[in-house]
Amino acid sequence: MRLKGKVALITGAAGGMGLTAAKLFAAEGAKVVIADVSERGVERALQEIRSAGGDAAFSRADVSKAAEVEAMVRFAVERFGGLHVLYNNAGIFHADDGGTVETTEAIWDRVIDINLKGVWLGCKYGIPALIQSGGGSIINVASFVALMGAATPQIAYTASKGGVLSMTREIAIEYARRGIRANALCPGPIETPLLADLLSDPQRRARRLVHIPIGRFGQAEEIARAALWLASDESSLMTGSALVVDGGITAAYVTPE
Ligand SMILES: NC(=O)c1ccc[n+]([C@@H]2O[C@H](COP(=O)([O-])OP(=O)(O)OC[C@H]3O[C@@H](n4cnc5c(N)ncnc54)[C@H](O)[C@@H]3O)[C@@H](O)[C@H]2O)c1
Repeated sequence: MRLKGKVALITGAAGGMGLTAAKLFAAEGAKVVIADVSERGVERALQEIRSAGGDAAFSRADVSKAAEVEAMVRFAVERFGGLHVLYNNAGIFHADDGGTVETTEAIWDRVIDINLKGVWLGCKYGIPALIQSGGGSIINVASFVALMGAATPQIAYTASKGGVLSMTREIAIEYARRGIRANALCPGPIETPLLADLLSDPQRRARRLVHIPIGRFGQAEEIARAALWLASDESSLMTGSALVVDGGITAAYVTPE
């Protein structure tokens, strides 16, 4: 068991990659707090984890609200006695997030509030709990678009993920000597509910697939396994880095035929 004795808090864990990671982390021995703004499907996930012999609990929290994030961290510490893994995974991709000129201020604010401010708030309230627990690992979810421009514009999303990556580096340096590691996880396009609409359109699907050398979209399990490594002590020398798990997108100038 790679996370035995650890308490892991995962935001946005009611669905998508967060939920897959919650199940995997629990199977690897962590006590898991599933935090999400939505409760949909959570009861079933908790039952599944518990009947497999794991331990997990739900905390309702909107990561863009300071008081809710503070309460979420307090819940983890009170329920499971500490915090060792903080996985800031919650994020949105808004259908009206487009070009620089067309995107409205309201969409910009909403995307930045959840995707960037939400990660900062997670760190702001989570770091004291990690220190109190003797140190730990922070995993902040960015994206491959933190490293290169998206071919189809999504200005707020791209800016938010670039912010997550640079903020993570700074946090890593700030806390490197206090037992906290912080890394950004940069997935390529993964088949989760976040991209479901977009990928259900054959043209938009093909438009993106052409950029992926490996020739397919990723699965949530493939990202959860990378997160598991970052969460565990196996990655003990890794901090301030971007772990890119993208099927080769960022390595390619042109993709093979
Ligand atoms: N799917 C992809 O292709 C892809 C690629 C790169 C990065 N990412 C990032 O990975 C992370 C997870 O994405 P996913 O594909 O699993 O998404 P998803 O939409 O399947 O799941 C996201 C979860 O976050 C929750 N959430 C949304 N707003 C929230 C808020 N304000 N507070 C708390 N929870 C909230 C949702 O309820 C949902 O359960 C996101 O940060 C996303 O930007 C996704």
